[in-house]
Amino acid sequence: MSLTPCYAAQSATAPLAPYRIQRRAVGPKDVQIAIDYCGVCHTDLHQTRNDWGRANYPVVPGHEIVGKVSALGAEVQHLAIGQTVAVGCFVDSCRTCPSCQAHWEQYCLQGVKATYNSPTQDPGGYTYGGYAKSIVVDQDFVLVMPKGLDSAAAAPLLCAGITTYSPLKHWGIGPGKTVGVIGLGGLGHMGVKLSHALGAKTIMITSSPNKAADALKLGADEVLLSTEAAAMQARANQFDFLLDTIPVPHDFNAYMPLLKVDGTLCIVGAIGPTATLNSGPLIFGRRSVAGSLVGGIQETQEMLDFCGQHNITSEIEIIPISEINHAYERMLKSDVKYRFVIDMSSLS
Ligand SMILES: NC(=O)c1ccc[n+]([C@@H]2O[C@H](COP(=O)([O-])OP(=O)(O)OC[C@H]3O[C@@H](n4cnc5c(N)ncnc54)[C@H](OP(=O)(O)O)[C@@H]3O)[C@@H](O)[C@H]2O)c1
Ligand SMILES: [Zn+2]
Ligand SMILES: [Zn+2]
Repeated sequence: MSLTPCYAAQSATAPLAPYRIQRRAVGPKDVQIAIDYCGVCHTDLHQTRNDWGRANYPVVPGHEIVGKVSALGAEVQHLAIGQTVAVGCFVDSCRTCPSCQAHWEQYCLQGVKATYNSPTQDPGGYTYGGYAKSIVVDQDFVLVMPKGLDSAAAAPLLCAGITTYSPLKHWGIGPGKTVGVIGLGGLGHMGVKLSHALGAKTIMITSSPNKAADALKLGADEVLLSTEAAAMQARANQFDFLLDTIPVPHDFNAYMPLLKVDGTLCIVGAIGPTATLNSGPLIFGRRSVAGSLVGGIQETQEMLDFCGQHNITSEIEIIPISEINHAYERMLKSDVKYRFVIDMSSLS
């Protein structure tokens, strides 16, 4: 069996470097994808550097995958060789638990099988992600790319797009609502675009004054600097929903007074323990703090189709895979507008 070229980290302190992995043989329900582009999510960095203590090395990150079908299992009817398809943050789930039945595979009670670093029967014992030439995925977890979207710019929709779309939909965001998106990075810039496209008044809440002009171009109606106490105070009680994308522990309580009565702050930055919860703003306003994990397969397809209809893609900087370690350093400094995407033709 031939080996698949990829980039892998061999330990939490090792840089990503060229490596070869074995993918499973294409089974009857499988789709083999020749990867054209893979977005670079902050989660890739967290996992590569074992920020969450559950990395299994070698780690091959990448879960914003767009490519073309290169082989199909005998039972796959709805896809064709050469078709542009995509894979997001997970590649299987139990399919029978209440979450899976509700099309919330991301909340599978047996544990969703993540695109990388999840236990698998496949060679290697843990899933390997999209910083690779190809991937083999069960047909039920392969998304169809709408026609007309640029493949590279659409790749980040597979994580940054769905991670912001799903909570916006869940909390009923649309015309008449006011949304604050906290943190203008990969997730945040998609949050602004999608909230705007859903018809909500959208305010970018950033710690970087130099991003204000971009935020307006991306579709924000206004920009609020989180570092300006007076401006934050002037905005009290005005937001129906806050989407918090900050990737480091932080005092989310500082944002709670911005919410209206019954408003929700939804944390999507996967940061583990963070500030102690102050019940004051919750009680005095029946406000909620919530979390959200990507989105189910059906909802991801809905999001892709929505983006196809509204011509929504990410703002990207395309890099060759040899630049990935430098890209991580830049991402840590918020020095990317607003998502790196790896051109996989640079990998051989
Ligand atoms: N829940 C999920 O399903 C899910 C899915 C994907 C990713 N994630 C997680 O979401 C987080 C964001 O990912 P991303 O790819 O969007 O990251 P990113 O591109 O690095 O963007 C994060 C943004 O947060 C702001 N920020 C960074 N450090 C900050 C600090 N110390 N204090 C305040 N703001 C800060 C910056 O925006 P400003 O300069 O505008 O302040 C930065 O651009 C990561 O933790 C990632 O693991 C979760
Ligand atoms: Zn991600
Ligand atoms: Zn399940």
